[in-house]
Amino acid sequence: MQIAEIHGSTGDTTVMVGERLADLPRYVPTEKTVVVTDDNIKRLYGHLLPDCPVLTMGTGEAEKNLATVGRLYEELMGLGADRTSFIVAVGGGIVCDVAGFVASTYLRGVPFGFVAATLLAQVDASVGGKNGVNVGGFKNMAGVFNQPKFVICDPDLLVTLPQREILSGAAEIIKHAAIADKRLFAYLEENGHRLLELEREVVEKLVYDSVMIKSAVVNRDEKETGERRKLNFGHTFGHAVEKMTGVPHGEAVAIGMVVAGALSMGRGLLTPSELGRMENLIDTMGLPTRLECEPEKLFEVMRKDKKREGEFIHFVLLDGIGRAVVEKITLTELKEAVRSLD
Ligand SMILES: NC(=O)c1ccc[n+]([C@@H]2O[C@H](COP(=O)([O-])OP(=O)(O)OC[C@H]3O[C@@H](n4cnc5c(N)ncnc54)[C@H](O)[C@@H]3O)[C@@H](O)[C@H]2O)c1
Ligand SMILES: [Zn+2]
Repeated sequence: MQIAEIHGSTGDTTVMVGERLADLPRYVPTEKTVVVTDDNIKRLYGHLLPDCPVLTMGTGEAEKNLATVGRLYEELMGLGADRTSFIVAVGGGIVCDVAGFVASTYLRGVPFGFVAATLLAQVDASVGGKNGVNVGGFKNMAGVFNQPKFVICDPDLLVTLPQREILSGAAEIIKHAAIADKRLFAYLEENGHRLLELEREVVEKLVYDSVMIKSAVVNRDEKETGERRKLNFGHTFGHAVEKMTGVPHGEAVAIGMVVAGALSMGRGLLTPSELGRMENLIDTMGLPTRLECEPEKLFEVMRKDKKREGEFIHFVLLDGIGRAVVEKITLTELKEAVRSLD
């Protein structure tokens, strides 16, 4: 097991990479613990959950809403949960986001922990202190910054995860390497395929390194003013792709990273061979590098992006592999970059 201690402004988190769900009782009070999970996890891993009340929610992004939050509050009240209670989310990013929000607001906040059950939750969603839900179909409109006491990243849970969900975490791992760690990038080029085979040693290294990179960026800028924006590498264009085409988040981000790479090359920040390495890595990790749709509609979405500042869009570019910079680019520059990839 590898342990990372994260010091956030709302508290400290111990991330345990390689710890097991079955050992959860070691980290929670013997009484007053309540688990929140989803139907899939309950069915697959119910037998490994501690002997305590288990609240379940449905699956899918549509369940990440205030109705679910309200129902969970009432179920907690029904159980007589009080300020000495401890809430543990066992699940992917959706369960962690919802349960973290519920725990942060129920009785003005009770302590909580996460057992991250998807690769995305292990490398991304469970780190950084953001918890929240969607409102009226808009993502993460209500939420809080608050740190869990612990995060358990159990690699054994990933065995039952559909391959597409593995890819979604893989995209964020590539992102972390690209923005902050060229050695990790080179490691991925050598060993990335072993992640897809879920080789334990490789999974643990990549989860641990990702947690360290994300938490370092977040610690430098917890409330997202500058530094944290770097975590949006591939996401500005990626979000537009996701919205327009409905492709899964990780695949959209993969395409977005290639576009951001092309923009970086256009500005002389990335060499053609470095862009080639990016594309190769994304491709060998089983992720797409090209859009499957006409880009015109995407430009329209980007033109309306609320994060736009006049003529400019803030874009995370790479100044060489392993170093991110935030720059203002124009829509015309973006169009040229996308066309250059044809
Ligand atoms: N808080 C943050 O900083 C942050 C960061 C990134 C993403 N997110 C959020 O995370 C959410 C996506 O998370 P996700 O990709 O983990 O999706 P998810 O939680 O929906 O999990 C994906 C699917 O896999 C199932 N599943 C989970 N673990 C499993 C396992 N071990 N075996 C088999 N099936 C399993 C789930 O039931 C679900 O159907 C989004 O809502 C996103 O906004 C939050
Ligand atoms: Zn993402």
